Amino acid sequence: MLMRTIDWSDEKGCVTIIDQTALPLKLALIDIYHINALNDAILRLKVRGAPALGAAGGFGVALLARTIKAEDYREELIKETESLKRVRPTAVNLSWGADRVLTKALTGRDRAEIETLALAEAKALADEDVAQCRAIGEHGAALLRSGDTVMTHCNAGRLACVDWGTALGVIRSAIEQGKDIKVISCETRPLNQGSRITCFELMEDRIPVTLITDSMAGHVMRQGKVDKVIVGADRIVEDAVFNKIGTYSHSVLAKAHGIPFYVAAPLSTFDFRHAEKDVVIEERDPEELRRWNGTQIAPAGVPAFNPAFDATPMENVTAVITEQGVFKPPLPFTGLKKSSSLKRYIKDKPEGVRDGI
Ligand code: MRU
Repeated sequence: MLMRTIDWSDEKGCVTIIDQTALPLKLALIDIYHINALNDAILRLKVRGAPALGAAGGFGVALLARTIKAEDYREELIKETESLKRVRPTAVNLSWGADRVLTKALTGRDRAEIETLALAEAKALADEDVAQCRAIGEHGAALLRSGDTVMTHCNAGRLACVDWGTALGVIRSAIEQGKDIKVISCETRPLNQGSRITCFELMEDRIPVTLITDSMAGHVMRQGKVDKVIVGADRIVEDAVFNKIGTYSHSVLAKAHGIPFYVAAPLSTFDFRHAEKDVVIEERDPEELRRWNGTQIAPAGVPAFNPAFDATPMENVTAVITEQGVFKPPLPFTGLKKSSSLKRYIKDKPEGVRDGI
């Protein structure tokens, strides 16, 4: 059993993360004492995955509250929180977590109280994430039958959350209920979260997993080897699901083969105010395609396009599995919004939304 992906160490007074860039070769921990180190860890995907980014946003504000020295303490806290939210734009959880903790912290009367409130709220957010993933697992497990083989993409497991996982949480819960479930993990180029992280964590838990390249998905579906597809999400809007690049292709293939395509995500991943057209998709360094682990794998300087996420239209989604139950599109957005704590933290224009909206 691994430790939490991201947690606060009371002993050291820092955030501790599992360095996901070291996996699967090494299970290394990093202690983070300053916001610059956290921003860098987020940018380099040392901590990654929407729910884990939500926790990182929360702990980031707690770190800021402890380390800011400026005279205009409150203004600086707000300004630095805005910078933290901008490090990765697509997963809405980062902004959500940072805003939630900032909102609570700013109710403090003085610096000491702000520090205490920020840390307590960040810890509560992380604990809630674990409970939400467990609930997602319980709801989703009912959709799986013993003997099913589930295809997944990227990593939506315990390493993308604080613990347990969303898509992989559903599989873990089904196995906990005694069901026999096998997994096909897509490699997930270019940064290989599927082969490096999903395969690692499933093998740690002795859950049967077979690795394929992304381009093999259609072939294995056509061969009848996939019963269900379950993926996570970085942002869910009314008309689409944003998730790791390649997810859309899997949804099209699943539809063509009559295979259910499920998305598992907590309500903190929902953006109730925007549509697909409004959302910014993060574009990463083209070098990620031209080099692998320092080795050149394409002609130097070849133009490369490297979007980190894509949008899957809701009509390709069979159902969305949340901590509040399983919803078939069209999603009851108004009802979910009312029952979601997210409502309190919605800002006029959250990060990752195009200007002019
Ligand atoms: O770029 P990453 O590795 O942060 O992308 C992660 C994903 O796309 C996950 O599928 C998503 O965040 C859901 S994690 C439960």
